[in-house]
Amino acid sequence: MKSSFFNPPPDGKAIEIKRGIMTVPKVPIIPFIEGDGIGPELWAAARPALDAAVHLAYGEGRRLGWMEVPAGEKALFQVGEPLPEETIQAIAKYKVAIKGPLTTPVGGGFRSLNVALRKRLDLYACVRPVRWISGVPSPVRHPELVDMVVFRENTEDIYAGIEFQAGSEPNRAFQAWLAQHQPEAFAKICFPDSSAFSIKPISRQGSERLVRSALRYALENRRKRVTLVHKGNIMKFTEGAFAAWGYDLAEGEFGAQATTQRQYQQTRAAQGQAAAETERQAALASGKLLVDDVITDAAFEQALTRPDSLDVIATMNLNGDYLSDALTAQVGGLGMAPGANLNFETRIALFEATHGTAPALAGKNQANPCSLILSGALMLRYLGWDEAAGLVEAGIRGAVSSGQVTADLARLMPGAAALSTADFGAAVIQHMPTHCKN
Ligand code: NAI
Repeated sequence: MKSSFFNPPPDGKAIEIKRGIMTVPKVPIIPFIEGDGIGPELWAAARPALDAAVHLAYGEGRRLGWMEVPAGEKALFQVGEPLPEETIQAIAKYKVAIKGPLTTPVGGGFRSLNVALRKRLDLYACVRPVRWISGVPSPVRHPELVDMVVFRENTEDIYAGIEFQAGSEPNRAFQAWLAQHQPEAFAKICFPDSSAFSIKPISRQGSERLVRSALRYALENRRKRVTLVHKGNIMKFTEGAFAAWGYDLAEGEFGAQATTQRQYQQTRAAQGQAAAETERQAALASGKLLVDDVITDAAFEQALTRPDSLDVIATMNLNGDYLSDALTAQVGGLGMAPGANLNFETRIALFEATHGTAPALAGKNQANPCSLILSGALMLRYLGWDEAAGLVEAGIRGAVSSGQVTADLARLMPGAAALSTADFGAAVIQHMPTHCKN
């Protein structure tokens, strides 16, 4: 593929990062991937909404310099491969990009393009804010208490998992190794002949950079608590280590700004409950961030019964996958949840709808574009274009509160009209407050 395949706007410029500082030109070149399935129709609604908000906020002063980069089925058709190297290089060069969902065939074909993009660009943090928009139907009684940001590790755990298929030669070799080197573990396998195995790596470096980014985010955004979610009571050397490394980092690198549950427990063991309470209250009163941990299953329970006790969550890949979708259910489901994949060192950021390609809805102009539009709002905030991001969010709030929603929400809202994807996008633009115009 030739570089002329890309068609950046003539007045567009690349975002620059120098010594960690991002400089955003008036027309930043933003690579975008429409995606598969419902992706193109969502993008057709999201792009005008983002453009309208930027225009409303800054007039001719700023514009998003969209540049399509091929990926998914469209790329397979156009250039013969689902994830061309040029697409990856373009995202790395232009730093900030946005994408719709991409299909992953189950059990065969090419591997997940989403995972490949995250791994190739080393986008180690999947960040998903989960917040209720007033008026959106929710299965819980107090969705207004839900305001969490999930930091899910994106490069390790099952994303780097090693599997041994039942009955295969590698499986037999692995079992032979286990029998020789870990006889006690081997003896616990009930049905070795039909057992498959998965191994997941979790490292100190991978855990530290994820927890570091969650702590920095919490401090910069005046959040009160970071909770490490793990299943360390069972998987001590992977998930348990994640929590221990997270605490080490919080106490070592962030000791002046954070107090931890582990410090509390240590003081309690040494000096008693009252001393531990006094120490913690003094730390919190001085404005320190609380870092604690919770076992994964308890986190699910807590998220439903005491959602306001969870704030920023730092967790590994699989826990984060389950947890972020479950939390999303409280605020209106997958169609409402934005996401971003970030590397805080290279400053490469790929914003994306959190849901998949919804094949059954594809081509019907019925799907909810909020996840992609809100991911765009997150992107605008990342660029420092807060006024435009605020207009996008206000547009969605306005459309929803006037009962103008897509079918997924309309069926749960008595009296609401089900708009098409395109009409909902137009309603979002109509509800952007014009008095914010610069
Ligand atoms: P899915 O998210 O596509 O669908 C799950 C359910 O949510 C379906 O009932 C669907 O109709 C509904 N849904 C999803 N997005 C919606 C929207 N915007 N508006 C209204 N309803 C919506 O997940 P599924 O079925 O597991 O995966 C389908 C394909 O998408 C697979 O190939 C999968 O690998 C891929 N996928 C891609 C992701 C990505 O690109 N980041 C993430 C998740 C799945």
